[in-house]
Amino acid sequence: MKTQVCIVGGGPAGLLLSHLLHLAGIESVILERRPRDHVLGRIRAGVLEWGSVKLLEEAGLGARMRKRGFVHEGTYLASQNRGFRIDFKARAGHPVMVYGQTEVTHDLYDARDAAGGVVIDRAEGVTLHGLPDTPHVTYVKDGTEHRVDCDYIAGCDGYHGVSRQAIPTSLLKTFEKVYPFGWLGVLTETRPVSDELIYANHGRGFALCSMRNEHLSRYYIQVPVDDPIGKWSDDAFWDELRRRIPHDAADRLETGASIEKSIAPLRSFVAEPMRWGRLFLAGDAAHIVPPTGAKGLNLAVSDVHYLSQALIAHYRDSADDLIEGYSDRALTRVWKAIRFSWWMTTLLHRFPDQTEFDQRLREVEMDYLEGSEAAQRSLAENYIGLPY
Ligand code: FAD
Ligand code: DHB
Repeated sequence: MKTQVCIVGGGPAGLLLSHLLHLAGIESVILERRPRDHVLGRIRAGVLEWGSVKLLEEAGLGARMRKRGFVHEGTYLASQNRGFRIDFKARAGHPVMVYGQTEVTHDLYDARDAAGGVVIDRAEGVTLHGLPDTPHVTYVKDGTEHRVDCDYIAGCDGYHGVSRQAIPTSLLKTFEKVYPFGWLGVLTETRPVSDELIYANHGRGFALCSMRNEHLSRYYIQVPVDDPIGKWSDDAFWDELRRRIPHDAADRLETGASIEKSIAPLRSFVAEPMRWGRLFLAGDAAHIVPPTGAKGLNLAVSDVHYLSQALIAHYRDSADDLIEGYSDRALTRVWKAIRFSWWMTTLLHRFPDQTEFDQRLREVEMDYLEGSEAAQRSLAENYIGLPY
């Protein structure tokens, strides 16, 4: 098979890239290791920056999002069971959209199918060859090996993918911070406790109240990363969540059986550069943020924006300066999100070795945020998303 861009990974980054290239008349093939149902069933991110919303709308992917998504003009922060609101619209000019990654992926698969896009799932043993200058990719499907010849490879295969590993370690610089805790996430068919998200700091640890729709809630609590999931019965989860969120929210919290429950580790990670010759990295393949700032999915969208612009300039105008500048351009934005996610994580979580002094600092920083328009502006402009 021959194509212009071979995309490894059919998550949000790979699917969106394929769609944007298609709109510009550029061919691509997506190789995805997992069955499509698995990709569509993964419960992950929930918040879209306004720039991501605009990009999806401009790419013709806004119809379901407009119907099913929820525009949030602010969020609640809480400290020691007392909350206050930050108004995104007033402080930074735009709201965010609460629309699950599952829905974004669903819309992207629909768009690829409607356009006759090639998405090969259950592609095993994907291997990158001929880099940095003369790439091709091989994979095995149903026991048979196939080859894709291409001009470029886009590595959109997440943190555990093969694309980043194809870059010689002598050329790749990685930065990593592993946090000593994880998030226990629960999805329940209950009414959300609040009309906007609640990010709560508490001496017992962080908690987040989010939602997917009027009848579906998503809640998280900070737990030790090595806690066995079996330790957390639904009742134990609800009891702990109630202890950490504002009292008025705890009083009206509707509980029910969990329909999904999992523990995710928290990590910051960046690999530089994001291009090696004709191989590009985008999304989680190049960087990971802890979920506190809701940035993971949004960074995948901004990377893909820069990468699609670079490839379009190459094919349409024979101009390669955006290809050469891709890594620097993407990383400039990535590092700002790395900083913001680290800051939100540090502000809101309990660290195992923290002292009373550290907890007081957290509480006073929350107090400062509550009282300072300048501090709120800084949080709001980062949360709604820095410009591309
Ligand atoms: P992915 O979504 O990881 O997609 C990569 C795709 O590549 C996958 O479909 C994978 O199957 C495929 N793949 C991997 N290896 C290969 C291979 N060798 N060959 C072919 N295909 C391959 N972000 C938030 O903002 N909020 C959250 O609450 C949140 N929760 C998360 C929970 C978990 C458990 C995880 C893992 C991530 C979470 N994130 C969250 C981050 C967010 O989901 C990611 O940033 C986002 O999915 C990045 O999209 P991506 O397309 O770059 O990577
Ligand atoms: C959700 C996840 C996040 O990491 C976040 O910061 C906000 C919301 C969610 O899954 O709804």
